[in-house]
Amino acid sequence: MATERFFDFKSLDEIRSEAARLGVGISFEEKLEAVFRPVKIADRTIGNSMGIHPMEGCDGTLEGKPDELTVRRWRRFGEGGAKLIWGEATAVVPEGLANPRQLLINEENLKSIAELVRVARSAHVERYGTDSDLLVGLQLTHSGRYSYRRPLIAYHHPQADKVTYLDKAKSVRIPADYPVMSDDDLERLEDAYVAAARRTYKAGFDFIDIKQCHTYLLNELLGARTRPGKYGGDFEGRTRFIRNVLGKIRAELGNSVLIASRVNAFDGVPFAKDPKTGVGVPIPFELPYRHSFGVDQNDPLKEDLSEPIELIRLMRSHGVSMINVSMGSPYYNMHYGRPFERSPDDGYYTPEHPLIGVARHFRITGAIQKAFPDLVVVGTGYSWLRQFLLNAGEWNLRNGRVTVVATGRGAIAYPDYAHDAKKYGTLQHSRVCLAISYCTNLMRAKNNELGQYPAGCVPRDEVYTAVYKEFLVSRGKPHSAKARP
Ligand SMILES: Cc1cc2nc3c(=O)[nH]c(=O)nc-3n(C[C@H](O)[C@H](O)[C@H](O)COP(=O)(O)O)c2cc1C
Repeated sequence: MATERFFDFKSLDEIRSEAARLGVGISFEEKLEAVFRPVKIADRTIGNSMGIHPMEGCDGTLEGKPDELTVRRWRRFGEGGAKLIWGEATAVVPEGLANPRQLLINEENLKSIAELVRVARSAHVERYGTDSDLLVGLQLTHSGRYSYRRPLIAYHHPQADKVTYLDKAKSVRIPADYPVMSDDDLERLEDAYVAAARRTYKAGFDFIDIKQCHTYLLNELLGARTRPGKYGGDFEGRTRFIRNVLGKIRAELGNSVLIASRVNAFDGVPFAKDPKTGVGVPIPFELPYRHSFGVDQNDPLKEDLSEPIELIRLMRSHGVSMINVSMGSPYYNMHYGRPFERSPDDGYYTPEHPLIGVARHFRITGAIQKAFPDLVVVGTGYSWLRQFLLNAGEWNLRNGRVTVVATGRGAIAYPDYAHDAKKYGTLQHSRVCLAISYCTNLMRAKNNELGQYPAGCVPRDEVYTAVYKEFLVSRGKPHSAKARP
């Protein structure tokens, strides 16, 4: 498995037969039609069914304002032709920043963050003549145990604690007596979300995303069965934070604001690298498994969607109009969230064929869409499919398994994939994401006082080919990296 090359398909028939061999239930349509269908989202209509997922580039200033590369990315997304731009993770408080270069939404940064919407919109108008059918949002986040200043945890997760660094440089993990965030901390944070929401709309964004995915704080709260007090324990306690935040936002900002949420429908269990084979293996756990969200407590390698579906029902009753379905943790089981061809340097060889990971995304998203046929459900996990991603999206759309097909890594490699789909009826294979994790390597590499390297597509974007060379030189490695023609 470790050295295998997975993606080796020249035609739809070749990838179809691999999907059939694996029995994963992914199908592909030849002709693209449904991806060009407009989608109604609350009182707005977007011009097609394609989107761009939140993709931070770790390229803000040290104050949390967008910098040159941030603006460049948003311009490219605006030009791209996808009608749903789901803006990147932006911290609501400084202690919740995931890295020193993440955006931070506060009063001082508001004007420059507003510039991102302006840039994306004007690039869109320049190319398509109008932006009236474009929706641009911003993801509001608190990074919880992955906050870079110090981990802020909702509860002690026995496996996740083993792989969460208290001090990465010294390889020190979370000790058993490490304090958890108090109920008062969380209550104050609810108000910080409301303030951030107010600012985001003021900056001109069409919607906010209350991020509850990828094992950051609000996602962690959803699985906090062992947390005592009002924010843990049963489903009611674990959803108290999101209910309070939604209630407070509505009370302060009214019913007309558009609210979305990116949710982990399946956290999975933490994996670590097997020292002998290098393949990812689950960190040993006991049954019943009482941690994480969306997992079957008797077999946590499988999803149990009953609580995620209840959560979505609850959010809808609080006026949430759009759900972006995701899964897993980029820190400890990234084959779930981002099926990959080659792992990041600090990762492991994939324990499953990436098509199985893609199929898990489609299966779970499909089940959620079937449970809420009239909800706008945005799907994830498409990028590994390269030039065939929209053919799979087309099938999912036609079969009521998703409402908007969006790409993450695929969009930094090929921001104008939607434009090309319309123009050529297909994607250019020379521009697609190769899922070989350079973007993740860059965002995780320390760069002295600058925090870390900016993340972008090394094989497809020469700006990041150059950044990667610089990174290799700084590590005393030969620099053979070249942008692919
Ligand atoms: C460099 C990088 C930055 C990302 N930034 C975010 C982010 O800000 N917010 C978020 O929810 N997900 C983020 N993700 C995850 C992607 O949005 C997406 O869920 C993931 O890459 C899987 O989708 P894909 O197969 O289309 O890439 C990031 C992923 C990468 C590789």
